[in-house]
Amino acid sequence: MSVNSDNIPNHVAIIMDGNGRWAEARGLHRSDGHRAGAEPVRMLLKSAHKKGVRFLTLFTFSTENWARSDDEVNNLFGLLVQYIDSETAELLSSGVRLTATGDLQRLPAPALEALREAEKATSQNTDLTLTLALSYGSRAELAAAARSLASEVILGLYDPQNLTEELFRSHLWSSTLPDVDLLIRTGGEKRVSNFLLWHLAYAELHFTDTLWPDFGEEDFLLALNDFQSRKRRFGRTD
Ligand code: IPE
Ligand code: IPE
Ligand code: MG
Repeated sequence: MSVNSDNIPNHVAIIMDGNGRWAEARGLHRSDGHRAGAEPVRMLLKSAHKKGVRFLTLFTFSTENWARSDDEVNNLFGLLVQYIDSETAELLSSGVRLTATGDLQRLPAPALEALREAEKATSQNTDLTLTLALSYGSRAELAAAARSLASEVILGLYDPQNLTEELFRSHLWSSTLPDVDLLIRTGGEKRVSNFLLWHLAYAELHFTDTLWPDFGEEDFLLALNDFQSRKRRFGRTD
């Protein structure tokens, strides 16, 4: 698969979907699918780093996923803690900075603690920023930004006439993330499921039927190749 090193997306965001179906197709438990989903993350980090991607944002748990069974939710956060414990040393030595975005106060305490420690440990790394979107939903994020801006207006910090896009953006949970260049969704569905609505404004979208645990380097290179075939106009003419 040929990928041009001069046109690598700065920010790749991924909706890692299909873990449950992958497990069900094998007569396994949904949690086995989530566990198997850690391997593509390892591959992706290596490959994205090698290609020069600077921001990688993974939709790991949505606001709406809280409606799943307690068993599945507990299992997912248990796996997250295991993943962070086993991978932080590797992230640290390979130049990856780990961060998280979302309504993080809702996370179980052990998950939040593991995340905070890993964030602190890798905070000096600058090659690649890996952001896990956890308890994340764009509408909740936009509403939270509106609430904090409204409070600041009431305090007299801003005149509403001066509420620019940039000021709004600076109040988002994910304010430090740049615009998404390439969105990949695995698992066959063609929707964005309340992910990064602000940042996706001009993203190129790549959908694949591959279920997340089966997502390999070839699939990633195919997505990069697809991105490179697009003509991005941002509303202008050629
Ligand atoms: C994505 O896989 C992972 C999370 C949403 C946490 P799913 O669990 O949604 O898998 P499917 O879509 O049921 O196959
Ligand atoms: C999106 O997948 C959320 C994550 C991948 C974490 P879902 O499986 O929750 O999305 P829907 O329900 O198919 O839209
Ligand atoms: Mg799903």
